[in-house]
Amino acid sequence: MKRLEDNQLTDLEQMSGISRRRFISAGALCGAAMFLGGNLLSRSALAVGSANSTLLGFDSIASATTDTITLPAGYKSSVLISWGQPLAANGPAFDPTSKDSAAAHEVQFGDNNDGMSFFPFADDENRALMAINNEYTNYQYLLDHAGLPQSAEEVHKALASEGVSVIEVQRLDGKWQFVQGSKYNRRIHGNTPISVSGPAAGHDWLKTADDRTGKHVLGTFQNCSNGKTPWGTYLTCEENFDDCFGSTDPAQQFDAAQVRYGASITGDGNDWHLHNPRFDMAKNPNEFNRHGWIVEIDPFDPQSTPIKRTALGRFKHENAAFTETKDGRAVVYMGDDERGEFIYKFISKDKIKRGQGPDAIKHNRHILDQGTLYVARFDAGDKNPNLPKGHGRWVELSFGKNGLDASNGFNSQAEVLIHARLAASTVAATRMDRPEWLVVSPKDGKVYCTLTNNVKRGQTDQPVNGPNPRANNIYGQILRWREANDDHASTAFTWDLFVVAGNPVVHAGQPAAGSTNITPQNMFNSPDGLSFDDAGRLWIQTDGDSSNAGDFAGMGNNQMLCADPDTGEIRRFMVGPVGCEVTGIAFAPDQRTMFVGIQHPGEKGGSSFPEHLPNGKPRSSVMVITREDGGIIGA
Ligand code: FEO
Ligand code: CA
Ligand code: CA
Repeated sequence: MKRLEDNQLTDLEQMSGISRRRFISAGALCGAAMFLGGNLLSRSALAVGSANSTLLGFDSIASATTDTITLPAGYKSSVLISWGQPLAANGPAFDPTSKDSAAAHEVQFGDNNDGMSFFPFADDENRALMAINNEYTNYQYLLDHAGLPQSAEEVHKALASEGVSVIEVQRLDGKWQFVQGSKYNRRIHGNTPISVSGPAAGHDWLKTADDRTGKHVLGTFQNCSNGKTPWGTYLTCEENFDDCFGSTDPAQQFDAAQVRYGASITGDGNDWHLHNPRFDMAKNPNEFNRHGWIVEIDPFDPQSTPIKRTALGRFKHENAAFTETKDGRAVVYMGDDERGEFIYKFISKDKIKRGQGPDAIKHNRHILDQGTLYVARFDAGDKNPNLPKGHGRWVELSFGKNGLDASNGFNSQAEVLIHARLAASTVAATRMDRPEWLVVSPKDGKVYCTLTNNVKRGQTDQPVNGPNPRANNIYGQILRWREANDDHASTAFTWDLFVVAGNPVVHAGQPAAGSTNITPQNMFNSPDGLSFDDAGRLWIQTDGDSSNAGDFAGMGNNQMLCADPDTGEIRRFMVGPVGCEVTGIAFAPDQRTMFVGIQHPGEKGGSSFPEHLPNGKPRSSVMVITREDGGIIGA
């Protein structure tokens, strides 16, 4: 559908007194027309109506600050699984007093669910596995004293709460539900043995007193979002690992690479280093280098050892958007979520073997170990104040090329990968506004990336640039690009911004009001999670300021929206409960069930989602969203 032309909107504005050029939904227009009098439902009204997306089949809902899930009329939600639910048939139940053991948490659904993938069984359409990240834990709910860990056991409890949960789900009477006691149910957590593969495996910087090989790591934690391979494995992304390390030597000096990766004496709100020497940079500095990777997991083999894939680079990984080149090689798009960090792309050396299951997994076992890592460089673009666009290219991060040699501190490809951030800076990659999720359109292959916000943009070392056009960027934007020749193997692309978030009620005019597809009815801040469904609807989840005040007045709780990539129209689909982040999304193959993650409800208090428990403790949960009429979600 064609977008509403600016001149049509100007007509409407002149009649209605709406001060800014806005892309207005049918519902909003109806309200404005009724307010202003009946005869306004004229040429302009019809013009706006005709601009509405045919892809989006629901009415945008209002923002909300209530402690519940809000959905459009005709939709319903229920809990699939919540933090602390036992995975085994006779497993320990969630203890609302928080006096339970670390061992209990190692066999329960982990905390703060985030990215997730749905893996159908090949021979039974009513069975599937789900792999679900557990990003971090809230100590006010995990520990009975509600403070930071004060013992090795309490650190162990935190490690047990993070990582990944693999669960079986089954469709009974048309409804997907968790199968407690399934042989596939599994926890991978902060103490699970994990192997290391790819060019950095065995490098000296990965060796510790406990692992002289540099190939066997304990655990994965701070698992943010995810990816899924066509051969049926799960990719989990280690994000804020640096928060878990500190030093018991208050005078310790960190080198430039450690500083760049966030090393600090105190860590950031975990205190693991005070009670477990593995996280003490004074005693085990190389343990720090063994985290910040993408880990591949085979959910159908509960005995399999997860593998850290070093060829994909080490940074604060958000997610892993998997696609293919025209000649059938694997491509993984990745963002490094830190203010001023970069967007990366990996292309495998070898072609993918088709199919799923053991044969494909065995053949594709090496695919993510050999290939080329690139980082994105964007030009200044056309500086359009609404939605700028321009060109860019991918710069190869290979030892011996583009200055990545001893003269700049790199002695091998392993060092380029372990210090990928430094390598990307060496080749002058473009500093971005916190890259979060990336997704690839199933319709046209365009890649979309949320740039969630960046209050440091505009400071001396981070001047505004093409795809990051706003100083003190508190609202965020969504970037997209199209690879040359529509081939993900290309090293050149064209980019544009799909939306620049803002608040058109509080701020009049660019840039704080946002782009023309932001209205008082759909405004949001800090886009984070992203997903396409099979029909090409773009789902947008937020992790932003939910104060509903000041710059964020009228936006309400964190939420999920749905966009038509062709028309630019965005509608609000769901609002989450108090204090939560909406993150994690998966679809059943028939697109009639959507799974959505509600993370850290009540992180700052004030929530009892999803149910009232004896002490009112809120619990992160995966929700099942369906339509009353059983229809396709969003249609
Ligand atoms: Fe875990 Fe960048 O969000
Ligand atoms: Ca995120
Ligand atoms: Ca987030």
